[in-house]
Amino acid sequence: MYNPSDWWKRAVIYQVYPRSFCDSNGDGIGDIPGIISKLDYLETLGVDAIWLSPVCRSPQVDNGYDVSDYRDIDPMFGTLEDMDRLIREAGARGIRILLDLVLNHTSNEHPWFLAASESRSDPYHEYYIWRDPLPGETPGDAAGFGSGSWQWVPAVGQYYYYQFSVWQPDLNWANPAVRQALYDMINWWADRGVGGFRLDVVDHLGKDPSLGVKVNGPRLHEYVREMSAACFQRPGLVTVGEAWSATPEIAKRYSDPDGSELSMVFQFEHILLDQAPGGSKWDLAPLPLKAFKQVMDRWQTELRGCGWNSLFYENHDLPRIVSRWGDDGEFREQSAQMLAILLFGMEGTPYIYEGQELGMTNMRLDLDEYQDIETRGMIDARRAEGYDDADILRSARAKSRDNARTPMQWNDAEHAGFTTGTPWLRVNENYREINAARQVGVSGSVFECYRALIRLRKAYPVFTEGAFSLLLPEDDDLFAYTRTTADETLLVVCNFRGRELPDPLAETEAGMTLLIGNYPDAQTTLRPYEARMYRKGEV
Ligand code: NOJ
Repeated sequence: MYNPSDWWKRAVIYQVYPRSFCDSNGDGIGDIPGIISKLDYLETLGVDAIWLSPVCRSPQVDNGYDVSDYRDIDPMFGTLEDMDRLIREAGARGIRILLDLVLNHTSNEHPWFLAASESRSDPYHEYYIWRDPLPGETPGDAAGFGSGSWQWVPAVGQYYYYQFSVWQPDLNWANPAVRQALYDMINWWADRGVGGFRLDVVDHLGKDPSLGVKVNGPRLHEYVREMSAACFQRPGLVTVGEAWSATPEIAKRYSDPDGSELSMVFQFEHILLDQAPGGSKWDLAPLPLKAFKQVMDRWQTELRGCGWNSLFYENHDLPRIVSRWGDDGEFREQSAQMLAILLFGMEGTPYIYEGQELGMTNMRLDLDEYQDIETRGMIDARRAEGYDDADILRSARAKSRDNARTPMQWNDAEHAGFTTGTPWLRVNENYREINAARQVGVSGSVFECYRALIRLRKAYPVFTEGAFSLLLPEDDDLFAYTRTTADETLLVVCNFRGRELPDPLAETEAGMTLLIGNYPDAQTTLRPYEARMYRKGEV
């Protein structure tokens, strides 16, 4: 049964990538006062909470996922006072602020790491993970972003471990002093009034590089439970862990309804479907629709009653969904809305990444324009391996993290109204056509579709409580399902193709009320990317 302190089960969460959302001071980089100036927009959309990508002090090697001071705001984003004001002003609109906790690693400029790499006898040395050189080993390092490696520090005559970039040394979670320092910091933020946390790469926290174990290490859930007991038991606090390695079995532990770990995790099984088998995300393949249906079905049914799903397609690491699984040309508006209707009918907490609610698209940058550390690493590595630039560009334009990091498109003024200065990353050329000013209050727009979906989720219990059942599992073109409670049924039918198709569910639909669709008039066939959501039950 629904428990009001689980408000997040009825909520929709909006992700803000601060550097790309709204710039208030003309330096070309978004900031906290800019976010405050857009709270009315987010209130109009109807979201309940904002997950802020990292705003703490950082050298910005990985855009803030390299923290050098957990208890201060990076000057590029504003001040602690700005943050307090954001928490207050969002709160006045019923919107909670969730912070992004980067607990797996710090910046190499964090004072802990500076002390740690000066002397083996400094207590901070044990805050990080070190190993001695092997006999005959020549210090060197050539690992790419995310692959994990060791970096030599002459002053201590040892290597430190890092999972992401060399500028992001991994913290030693086996050291209780590290865990306590992080818990104190988390509580310091909770005392300031933040409503919850997103935990960066939570599945890495229990790693043991000496055993070659990177994710789902033997002590992972012990640590998560300890952190939860120390920090997350305040009523109403919401937590979501980023866990690329989660299976439904593992996710049930993280999101156990007893609340001993987290509220939910981001799992990525669906996100990994459109890549060539055995390859990486850069090796492109079309989305296999049947596999996508199976994956979503499994997560919907396996977590029911014993866990909780997050529902998402986009974030600051992923491409724009309308370009990825929809059609960002002729059927951009229809396919963006179809994907929204499909996701918002499911059980879980939906997340919207800034601009997704406008149907923002991938960005056509040239190779030398990419700024993201991961993409730059891929370009260098693939050039060295002999890939040609056209190939590399195809991968980057499909999957680079910069696709979603272009400035938010507010209006058709210069730089899309994002800044009066020069934006840190080029604005997508399509901003005159795709922007918030053209969509808010305009019936049939992608924005109004998301807004209506948020309202619907709050109006009917079936969205929170209905049991999921996949229909037409063998169909190659349609994704359809029901959600059912004792009093209500929801039916969602989506055409994933850019052509008109017969509707095998027309008879079922006839006895139900249309809640929302992405075409203005009714018809019995399914038009390109058409989506319809029906309901039957008490009013
Ligand atoms: C996941 C974050 O979402 C990503 O942006 C970051 O680069 C890595 N974790 C490392 O912190």
